[in-house]
Amino acid sequence: MPGSGLILAIESSCDETAAAVVERGARTLSSVVASQIATHARYGGVVPELASREHLRAVVPVVRAALAQACVSLGDLDAIAVTSGPGLAGALLVGITYAKALAFANSLPLIAVNHLEGHIHAVLLNERSLPDGNTSADTEPALALVVSGGHTHLYLATPADGNWHYSLIGRTLDDAAGEAFDKVAKLLGLGYPGGPWIDNLALHGNPKAVPFAFSQIKTKLHLAGAAPRTKAAKTAPIADLDPHFLFSFSGIKTAALRYVELHNLRPEAESRREALFTGIDAPARPTIENALAQCEPQTLDLIASFQHAVVGDLLKKTFAAAGSLGVRRILVTGGVAANRELRTRFSAEAGRRNVSVSFPTLALSTDNAAMIAAAAWPRYVAKEFAPASLSANPSLALGH
Ligand code: KG4
Ligand code: ZN
Repeated sequence: MPGSGLILAIESSCDETAAAVVERGARTLSSVVASQIATHARYGGVVPELASREHLRAVVPVVRAALAQACVSLGDLDAIAVTSGPGLAGALLVGITYAKALAFANSLPLIAVNHLEGHIHAVLLNERSLPDGNTSADTEPALALVVSGGHTHLYLATPADGNWHYSLIGRTLDDAAGEAFDKVAKLLGLGYPGGPWIDNLALHGNPKAVPFAFSQIKTKLHLAGAAPRTKAAKTAPIADLDPHFLFSFSGIKTAALRYVELHNLRPEAESRREALFTGIDAPARPTIENALAQCEPQTLDLIASFQHAVVGDLLKKTFAAAGSLGVRRILVTGGVAANRELRTRFSAEAGRRNVSVSFPTLALSTDNAAMIAAAAWPRYVAKEFAPASLSANPSLALGH
């Protein structure tokens, strides 16, 4: 039924296989996410080969479930959308190949979506679907902080002719903020992904106990080779960015490691890992209460201080960028946007500065396909379709 406004989207860029049906980028009819957390948890991070294998297993049933939950069939759709990058090459290819086959077999147009644009549209989808309809959702420029396990990017998002344009304002030079949460959680013998464990345990520690500090980044030093050039720094332009809006999270990870060694917290972390995840008495699904019972006050203080410092750095640079650009609307999205301290402090700061800040629902913060379908809608309207030769682009950039 062409003209139904229905888009089926497939997302497989990292460790979630997801499919969703969304009407006109605004009304979510279904959003199904099959998480691979159980597969990767024992390795403390995503193993690319395992991710591709799991996507292969999950993609067909996940798409079927999304269509069934939406009560639609392939014939009711207007288009198929798929994440084409950035992400893991093998993982992306599973979604792309299946999306192409579905589009070809059903004579539907195929729309390629950038995963980072998808995260931004997770917030817009939320705003558009509010009962009273948010009229500023697609009209006001916004500064978007995309903060996840793979990305920490600041974009200026500007609506123009029914579509959105993006310019890169800031980014991390090394680790993403979510990666730092994951690595510190691993160091402390907590589960994967680390964000939710740290988020919950931080409530029980003193955020001022360990004075973690972020030093000012000097872009020119990086460009001249005086500071280490990281993989991330080479794959995206940093020369034109204001150093005040650049992030670096590898230092705080090392500082946490030093703190653990200095205070001899490693044996405690090892016994916690054993008690929660690997020992014969380990519960099948350890809870926050289990973990809390295994943490000394000093560890809880470290966790709370780490989170407080990371959130503080994200906050400082995001609001500085908004101020310097004169933007009165901030969107925060990606897995780390689920963090409670981040939401509370960003909301309070926005109130103080009289700007607005929006987050996706918790389900839309982490990877999902509804955000991909929402981002695909303006492209469908503009008839921006992907060629049959579409392939995965693991380092696809957004904007310029
Ligand atoms: O957006 P996402 O699902 O996948 C990527 O595109 O990376 O983000 C996953 C990341 C992980 O690093 C995870 O630890 C982090 O988001 N995360 C959190 C929270 N929930 C997930 N970080 C801090 N607090 C949370 N509540
Ligand atoms: Zn993501």
